[in-house]
Amino acid sequence: MKKDRIRCESLRGKMMDPAEAAAHIQDGTNLFISGFTAGYPKMIPQQLAERARAGERFKINLYAGASTGDCVDGILARAGVVAWRRPYMSDRVMRERINRGEIAFKDDHLSRLSAQVRAGDWGRVDVAVVEAVAVTEKGHLVPSTSVGNTPTYVKMADKIIIEMSNAEPPGLEGIHDIFIPEDPPYRMPIPIYRTSDRIGKPYIEMDPSRVVAVVSHEEQDRCAVFPEPDDTSRRIAELILDFVRHEIQRERLPPGLPWQSGVGGVANAVLTGFMDDDFYHDLDIYSEVLQDAVLDLIDMGKVRAASGSAMTLSERGRARFHKELYRYREKVVLRPVEISNAPEVIRRLGVLAINTAIEVDIYGQVNSTHVMGSQLMNGIGGSGDFERNGAVSFIVTPSTAKDGKISSIVPMVSHVDHSEHSVDVVVTEQGLVDTRPLAPRQVAEAVIEKCAHPDYRDLLWDYYRRAVRERGGHEPHLLGEAFAFHERFMATGDMKEEAAESRRPIADSS
Ligand code: COA
Repeated sequence: MKKDRIRCESLRGKMMDPAEAAAHIQDGTNLFISGFTAGYPKMIPQQLAERARAGERFKINLYAGASTGDCVDGILARAGVVAWRRPYMSDRVMRERINRGEIAFKDDHLSRLSAQVRAGDWGRVDVAVVEAVAVTEKGHLVPSTSVGNTPTYVKMADKIIIEMSNAEPPGLEGIHDIFIPEDPPYRMPIPIYRTSDRIGKPYIEMDPSRVVAVVSHEEQDRCAVFPEPDDTSRRIAELILDFVRHEIQRERLPPGLPWQSGVGGVANAVLTGFMDDDFYHDLDIYSEVLQDAVLDLIDMGKVRAASGSAMTLSERGRARFHKELYRYREKVVLRPVEISNAPEVIRRLGVLAINTAIEVDIYGQVNSTHVMGSQLMNGIGGSGDFERNGAVSFIVTPSTAKDGKISSIVPMVSHVDHSEHSVDVVVTEQGLVDTRPLAPRQVAEAVIEKCAHPDYRDLLWDYYRRAVRERGGHEPHLLGEAFAFHERFMATGDMKEEAAESRRPIADSS
């Protein structure tokens, strides 16, 4: 172990091997870990999985910042030792177990979690396992590639286990800005007025006497890297960039508002879209997760400041980031997620928020989390924090899923994450609808005509016209039939075939 990373004398004696450290975690432990797509522990979860493989029977409640890698969510789900998992995750096996009802999961807005944990809503913080790149002379913790909820987990934990990462450079020290707001009724404004503002300390305050073990490792993050933009995501990005340019030129939006781009290929394509567009420069990115595209934009001199809660980089991006850390550190700030996603700050800065949906309905309600209403995909993550509070909130989705067999524009979403009151602009590769000046019936007509795929427009028009005629009202719906749209796909596995073959109204198709 490289002892020079532990500058606090009293903690050097707490170094031990991972198996010994993991013994602090027993059946029923509430285990709170660092990790927010990156920066998760690598050693302790492996020990737990090994113990399960060796026949020990135990269950833990696993609380992270957001998604982690296979070496946490994957191995622990496969080992069958997880009773509870919160919040957002994106691991395939964890997802399967949650959907089978074997692991309890509750989805939360990420901005709210730390305060809930401090209030005791998630139970006692028995053990926190946190990845770090250094411990300061006074025993404070310098986190690695993410911050997430780690400051609160460290503050509240009875026992702390530090995983010292030798795979991440100590030069990360200085990139973090750690600020824990007071909880109500003593909360004061969070004093961030520009993306680049630093309001806290470069380390997480920690009581070294609660550290029970320090282990070290050489393992690096294995981040899920977003796919390269394809024609669909490029087209969606182009529509958004044209729209914002138009709004700025008409003086309906001020230039220079910060951007947030969520999870998924489309949100990533927007960042890539900035590269070829001379209109956009001096960009502010006030987001949740910073990816390779942000490094590209910094290299091109297009970024004024980038703020997030984690760096989620590819292998190549990571090497680049490490090599010129001193340069990127000037532009990048990593914050606790309760600050990166704080509704107050997002509102104040006027963030342009772009998040991805699984499906959107004709009136603009959004499902980002549940396929066919039942099967959890990943979770809401920070999408609600940004959609609800952005200056302009975009919801993007390809107009169809599953090779065109299912329409992402539906009469009524099968699960609601974001309501029409949070969503301003709906975008598919077919077109864009600014819902802000439109009444619900106008929204429905525009979304069907401009956003739906041509293969599904007739079905949607038929539904909408009959809903207006037969039911009427402010937002006409035929409740029984709304979900027949989904049922069709579940019955045949192919909505498109039916739509193309018959072009017949939903009511006649049974
Ligand atoms: N009906 C059925 N399945 C659908 C669907 C639809 N309308 N739309 C997408 N899917 C399926 C895809 O087929 C794919 O399935 P597969 O894994 O079996 O291939 C899966 O959902 C993911 O779709 P994909 O197109 O690969 O999506 P993505 O990577 O762009 O992610 C979300 C889309 C919605 C899952 C993702 O953005 C997400 O988790 N969002 C919620 C959290 C969030 O927005 N966080 C950002 C806050 S900063």
